[in-house]
Amino acid sequence: MVSKDNNIHPTFDKILKREDKEELLNQHSIVIWITGLSGSGKTTIAEGLEQELHKRGYLTKLLDGDNVRTGINNNLKFSEEDRKENIRRIAEISKLFMMGGVILINCFISPTKEIRDQAKEIVGPKDFFEIFVNTPLEVCEERDEKGLYAKARAGLIKNFTGIDSPYENPENPDVEIRTTEISIDESVKRILDSLIPRIEF
Ligand code: ADX
Repeated sequence: MVSKDNNIHPTFDKILKREDKEELLNQHSIVIWITGLSGSGKTTIAEGLEQELHKRGYLTKLLDGDNVRTGINNNLKFSEEDRKENIRRIAEISKLFMMGGVILINCFISPTKEIRDQAKEIVGPKDFFEIFVNTPLEVCEERDEKGLYAKARAGLIKNFTGIDSPYENPENPDVEIRTTEISIDESVKRILDSLIPRIEF
């Protein structure tokens, strides 16, 4: 049944709000958005961060290519249009989790300013905490943990970020991590220092 005056279902005001969930979980929810090249160390840092937040009693959800591109986004590839759609869906999913009080830790290349702006717009600018994992292309390529850079150089993978597809550095991230200068533990510590004031209840 729809009420006459405002078109809102009469039980709508009984739906619990984000604040109710946050109070229950004793945390403020947020979307931590980790951007950087493939092999820059995003997921390693995210895993360390998630462990530390868990230890401190925060409820988190980590999203990355492994659990998103193999499932809900398994119909998307790496054209500019598909990357945009990849990030749009991830931002929308993140928002749903966030409205349930959860802290998201998202690791996606999200290569362009336009793509990250879109995510920030969907999530809401004040709930978007951007981390730039700044590892030079040469270092990512040298590590080449998945062997993908070699394939991209050999022309076996097209549109590879940093090779024949662009990566634009974020201009004003909340935290920038230079993985060639500091350890994983130190990176996690730095993130926690600026993140905790945003999420403690
Ligand atoms: S994004 O550009 O749409 O944000 P996303 O983070 O989901 O990318 O996926 C990146 C991962 O997909 C890389 O770490 C790599 O393992 C794999 N991958 C496969 N093809 C490409 C490609 N053409 N460019 C970048 N990463 C690719």
